[in-house]
Amino acid sequence: VEPPGRGLLNGGPVRILVTGAEGQVGSELSALLAGHDVVALGRHDLDLTAPTLVDDVVDLTPDVVVNCAAVNDVDGVEADDRPARAVNADAPGRLGEACGRLGAHLIHLSTDYVFAGDKAGPYDEDDTPAPLSAYGRSKLAGEAAVMAGPGTWTVVRTAIVFGRRGRGLVETILDRARAGQPLRMAGDLRISPTYALDLAGVLVHMAADRVTGLYHVANAGSCTPYELALEVVDAAGLDDAAVERVGIADLARPAPRPPNSALVSARLPTTGIAPLRHYRDAVRELVPELAARTAQGS
Ligand SMILES: NC(=O)c1ccc[n+]([C@@H]2O[C@H](COP(=O)([O-])OP(=O)(O)OC[C@H]3O[C@@H](n4cnc5c(N)ncnc54)[C@H](OP(=O)(O)O)[C@@H]3O)[C@@H](O)[C@H]2O)c1
Repeated sequence: VEPPGRGLLNGGPVRILVTGAEGQVGSELSALLAGHDVVALGRHDLDLTAPTLVDDVVDLTPDVVVNCAAVNDVDGVEADDRPARAVNADAPGRLGEACGRLGAHLIHLSTDYVFAGDKAGPYDEDDTPAPLSAYGRSKLAGEAAVMAGPGTWTVVRTAIVFGRRGRGLVETILDRARAGQPLRMAGDLRISPTYALDLAGVLVHMAADRVTGLYHVANAGSCTPYELALEVVDAAGLDDAAVERVGIADLARPAPRPPNSALVSARLPTTGIAPLRHYRDAVRELVPELAARTAQGS
């Protein structure tokens, strides 16, 4: 199967720098771009907090930078927001500065957690952010820094990312269910689970076309974490008895969560890029793959 957007980059030489290339989204994006002029760097090869960041990026001479690096530990950031401020808020502005020097285009990822969560329906790009958590505030500051930068940019807000890297909500649910551990899942939060591979496909198109502006990119549909857990367990053919519906307050998380952070990709259709499939279809595709891999012990 031809990866999404692969043919799009054949219009001319384009060097794409992927930061945070070992994360959920960065690793899928780097894999989709294999065979193109891609420089995919994880934290150890390109640390976004390095004082030399701007010069380091300029030396790599990218035409497009896709910033997939972030500090995503929402509860950890609530206790100490310094790493998040450095990576999520300050570094994006410095990437923008480097892109401005090069005439390169910057694609930056942000989050549904920039919203307060009191809207009745899913959030579109015209809605006003009002983050509840320190993580959300750091990401909103990063968006603003990118938008204020000297070059062209795309800001892509996504949500509740899951994938094959073993860090997202779907993998966590699956691991716990397979281990026979209880799953106390919030039934009072509305979320838009998003498959890293599907998002990466859109990023390839955006890099190829240098699409500009702010976009929401999430899989279609929304659910509660409780409903997601039932779907994951069902897709894995496991017993759902361990899945318990609780309220988010019962989980006593340090950082507040928006009650509703579902996103709708209202602007994406204007770019000609196809919106993402329903999250349920992505879950049904991924879970058997993860389960088979775990069964093989790899
Ligand atoms: N995950 C979600 O549920 C979610 C939801 C909404 C939006 N987003 C956004 O989507 C984007 C991609 O998220 P993801 O799920 O792919 O996250 P991820 O799997 O946590 O990947 C982020 C990567 O950034 C790296 N990183 C951290 N600090 C760095 C630094 N100082 N320099 C360079 N790299 C650094 C991390 O490395 P280490 O592992 O070594 O720390 C990790 O590999 C982020 O902008 C995130 O805010 C994610």
